[in-house]
Amino acid sequence: MSRTAAQVRSDFLEYFRTRAGHAVVPSSPVVPHHDPTLLFTNAGMNQFKDVFLGTGTRPYKRAVDTQKCIRAGGKHNDLEDVGKDTYHHTFFEMLGNWSFGDYFKKEAIDWAWDLLTNIWKLDPLRLHATYFEGDAAEKLEPDTEARDLWLRYLPKERIHPGNKKDNFWEMGDSGPCGPCSEIHFDATPGKDGGKLVNAGDPRVIEIWNLVFIQFNRAPGTGKLSPLPAKHVDTGMGFERITRVIQGKTSNYDTDLWMPIFAAIEEISGAKAYRGKLDDHVDIAYRVIADHIGCLTFAITDGARPSNEGRGYVLRRILRRAVRHAHQTLGVKGPMLCKLVPSV
Ligand code: SER
Repeated sequence: MSRTAAQVRSDFLEYFRTRAGHAVVPSSPVVPHHDPTLLFTNAGMNQFKDVFLGTGTRPYKRAVDTQKCIRAGGKHNDLEDVGKDTYHHTFFEMLGNWSFGDYFKKEAIDWAWDLLTNIWKLDPLRLHATYFEGDAAEKLEPDTEARDLWLRYLPKERIHPGNKKDNFWEMGDSGPCGPCSEIHFDATPGKDGGKLVNAGDPRVIEIWNLVFIQFNRAPGTGKLSPLPAKHVDTGMGFERITRVIQGKTSNYDTDLWMPIFAAIEEISGAKAYRGKLDDHVDIAYRVIADHIGCLTFAITDGARPSNEGRGYVLRRILRRAVRHAHQTLGVKGPMLCKLVPSV
């Protein structure tokens, strides 16, 4: 195995700390206790919302972190995909580097390229970038600046325009937002997966999103207004980049999940995980492993399964995991609590 998941995480933090003077900051809780617009922390930028809006400050202008995120319920909701595919999770870590009114598009793109191709040595022929094509209804121009910055590294066939859904990032119905430029990894044998960018195909997946935060969307009216300064918010799916670096075709085939799968196998007595997409037992492994991570972090950070709001989302996740444990794996007694040490 080339790099363990733990090494990938520290590579990222160290790269931005040593190469470009970023302060390493902790993740915020996965429960956004102070933000009523969100059920769960759904992105690294949530904890910096006040800095982007100009209502708060930090003692640094550059930061790097790995943020605990839950995307189940609300604007970003991946719950139904979990278990069925190889790359969505309700709970995941997002590696991010941040500029608060400091560097902007050029540096963000240069460092992303350097880390991916020079440090981690990903094949440049497998990388694609996207940029925002603009939106007339919102009076937003195409982000030709990002496109031209990518042209220094990639041929134009591997730089793709994208619409508001894919290339204009928003945390929810209101709040800081802006055009974004995503980096996708093409794992097709012929390195010819260009048409599969943003097509929901597991062979070509988004690994990193570089967001250029410039606007605030007002609650109620939905009107966009420019922010006092321009910021960078990047988010790289930790489970996805680990999979790419370890040369696997599924996030669940990386060392991140092995301890949890081993515990499921031992406690349930089920046949070993084989990574099949259409096998009910393998689906149950993925669902249970994902959901126990989500539940463990959410409950540890102060949420509780209940019958409303965020608690109800947790209850649904809990029920889904229990259902797979009982119905698919045939476990009779309590099982999920016994998996917590493996998480
Ligand atoms: N906010 C962006 C995202 O969540 C990048 O961090 O994708």
